[in-house]
Amino acid sequence: MLLLRRCHSLTRFGPLNTHSHRVAPAAARLWSSSSSEDQKSYHGPSWRHALAGLLAGTGAVLAYGLCHHKAERDDTPTVQTIEKTSALPIFSQEEVNTHRSLEDGVWVTYKGGVYDITEFVAMHPGGDKILLAAGGALEPFWALYAVHNQEHVLEILSEYKVGELKAEDLKKQQAVQTADPYSSDPERHPVLRINNLKPFNAEPPPELLSDSYITPSAIFFKRNHLPVPQVDPASYRLQVEGLPRGVLTMSLEDLKTRFPKHTVTATLQCAGNRRSEMNKVKLVKGLNWGIAAISNAKWSGARLRDVLLAAGYGPDVAKWAVHVQFEGLDKDVTGTTYGASIPLRKAVSEEGDVLLAYEMNGEDLPADHGYPVRVVVPGTVGARNVKWLGKIIVSAEESSSHWQQNDYKGFSPMTDWDTVDFKSAPAIQELPIQSAITVPADGAVVDRSLNEVTVKGYAWSGGGREVVRVDVSLDGGKTWQVAQLRTSDKEQASEPSPPPGQAWAWKLWEVTAPLPAEAQELEIVCKAVDNSYNMQPDTVPPIWNLRGVLSNAWHRVTVKIREDESEE
Ligand code: MTE
Repeated sequence: MLLLRRCHSLTRFGPLNTHSHRVAPAAARLWSSSSSEDQKSYHGPSWRHALAGLLAGTGAVLAYGLCHHKAERDDTPTVQTIEKTSALPIFSQEEVNTHRSLEDGVWVTYKGGVYDITEFVAMHPGGDKILLAAGGALEPFWALYAVHNQEHVLEILSEYKVGELKAEDLKKQQAVQTADPYSSDPERHPVLRINNLKPFNAEPPPELLSDSYITPSAIFFKRNHLPVPQVDPASYRLQVEGLPRGVLTMSLEDLKTRFPKHTVTATLQCAGNRRSEMNKVKLVKGLNWGIAAISNAKWSGARLRDVLLAAGYGPDVAKWAVHVQFEGLDKDVTGTTYGASIPLRKAVSEEGDVLLAYEMNGEDLPADHGYPVRVVVPGTVGARNVKWLGKIIVSAEESSSHWQQNDYKGFSPMTDWDTVDFKSAPAIQELPIQSAITVPADGAVVDRSLNEVTVKGYAWSGGGREVVRVDVSLDGGKTWQVAQLRTSDKEQASEPSPPPGQAWAWKLWEVTAPLPAEAQELEIVCKAVDNSYNMQPDTVPPIWNLRGVLSNAWHRVTVKIREDESEE
């Protein structure tokens, strides 16, 4: 039917014979993808996800799609290449604009080419978001979600080419597309390991993480989905909506002066922390985070609870409201902002400690971390800690944001991109127990003459659950010793013990153990236990999921022992 629709749309603009020649391979792939499992894995989800990344704007999706597509295509029987440029009809931007729905066909332009991606949109679960690009140019999306190897995506896209854009319309497009949306992103510390440059995503070297209980802001992991917005503190306004007193609008000054300043030490962890270990089991979609998409800081600001009370929150609201939604000021080309929500219960609870933070580690929030105001939701996945906060909405509904509805959710290891139903899983909020070894690094060499090895790491649990023990093994998990929770660390020691349910900060730990006499290699393993006796799973495969989130299996590093030369 889609094929027919495509034919139909083309007959209106171009000669059918050239069109059928051009579109046949892509359509045939689609057709065969549903008739054979093997072919499905060749041609089904991978290119769709690649294109989804291009259009809907998840760099992660795109990166995955690209890798997969490349790998898969290596074995793919040669498909006749399509003559893309000759004898294609010319379309005006106005004509392209009329194709903005499944009914009228979904068309986009890229570098002067016109593409009919109706089939793609109809088959992709994130189609509603992709429609945002319909009738217009892809370049602004591409500029936002640039990753390497884009040729592969373009190669696939080329199979959907149906025409050329009128020269004068192309000129007009180019005139407005020259600016790099990331040109005003802040400078970053060179020690950060960059997972993606635009948008900026980076983590510190693990050994620096365990150096200090409070992570210096410059090396605190950074996870941006969009360009960093430039916000003028003088004209900044925060809106609170959905409460009986109507819309409350506050300046930064209001937030700082009208509400008591509250300070919380809290660890933030990205849902994708340690995703690289899932990637080793089977490729997942997303940035290939190591073990350092987690950091700990001292946050100060107004309590969200206080602000909601000032805006009229009370028992009447509690009867109907269930969620508090947040909107960032960072926008994609369509004007869609980053958004997320948390349960109202957490937001208004005195013990929840949710902050509208304007300081990080005693200074104004850095640009990358949400200047001038961000939400800090202690114990909750990083994704809900919305930066560059523009709006708060008290609602009966969860945020409708892509990142709340169609991302940051966990699934069974058997769920794949053909079967996943994002509506069937709850949005991740509190994170599970986690720990990892920061020192020594995987593959490090330890001298036998040292007689001992010191192992260091971090441990943390979501929902305010306190880490009560970390077990470390040097022999792959056969025998264990209990690590010391590092109270020698000045800052960690000076922190008062948290009240039950409010352990928001990680614990750094270490253990020094004799080198086993016979061993030439150590498989060092760590696992943590929280005060609900939650423990980490021992291996990755049973918790593998297609998005690579919630990766918290025992962490393992292998270390070689170098024997003394005199003994050889
Ligand atoms: N808020 C906005 N406005 N835009 C974003 O891209 N990223 C989220 C969250 N808040 C994001 C955001 C994600 S996925 C994470 S893990 C944390 O911010 C990362 O916070 P950090 O960069 O301060 O470490």
